[in-house]
Amino acid sequence: MGKFIVFEGIDGAGKSTQVKLLGKWLSERGYEVVLTKEPTDTAFGKLIRRLVLTGGREGIIDGARISPEAEALLFAADRAEHVHKLIKPSLEAGKVVISDRYFYSSLAYQWARGLDLEWLIDLNRFALKPDLVILLDLPVEEGMKRINRRSLKTEFDKIIELQKKVRENYLKLAKRFPEIKTVNGLADVEAIHRDVVALVERELGIK
Ligand SMILES: Nc1ncnc2c1ncn2[C@@H]1O[C@H](COP(=O)(O)OP(=O)(O)OP(=O)(O)O)[C@@H](O)[C@H]1O
Ligand SMILES: [Mg+2]
Repeated sequence: MGKFIVFEGIDGAGKSTQVKLLGKWLSERGYEVVLTKEPTDTAFGKLIRRLVLTGGREGIIDGARISPEAEALLFAADRAEHVHKLIKPSLEAGKVVISDRYFYSSLAYQWARGLDLEWLIDLNRFALKPDLVILLDLPVEEGMKRINRRSLKTEFDKIIELQKKVRENYLKLAKRFPEIKTVNGLADVEAIHRDVVALVERELGIK
């Protein structure tokens, strides 16, 4: 069996940056690495981008944003495809899978939207548990500053209050799920990468 590593954190935390660096680090050590993300690039992921991440402007049911439950179900459907079609087969082939967001994003964001945490956990019971989850933690203002220059602004980006709740939720989840290790996301890119490598070496026995 391979290893399954996940990066989590608020928008602009540096997840995509660190996924790439860790992927390169592992490849250089001879590991077969699969970089992936949620929402995925499958039809389900595309649907989520269209219906949820653009704020529903592209015409879901009456042009209004979809209900939080429908949103959670869409993310779960996308994840089910992700687990069955990509993550499990890759792990069975002995590869290291690194995912940019996973189950914990659904918990942190949908919980912040007012959904019941236990319902969300039940709904995602099929989701294979990662070997290591790295939570990049930093103040919302810093994350926002980093992504401000982007042209595509999702609804999530705009709502600072939601982001603050999401950050708090992630920190609560880190206390509940022992696979989550928190890293200071305020440090510079290279320093964070060193922390990430240290965690991967310690938690997964990868050298
Ligand atoms: N440690 C860091 N210090 C300063 N800037 C950073 C750091 N890490 C990443 N950045 C920059 O901040 C921006 C956001 O980083 P990145 O895209 O990796 O975040 P993300 O968590 O993937 O964001 P999103 O949730 O929006 O996908 C990028 O422009 C990136 O170059
Ligand atoms: Mg990203």
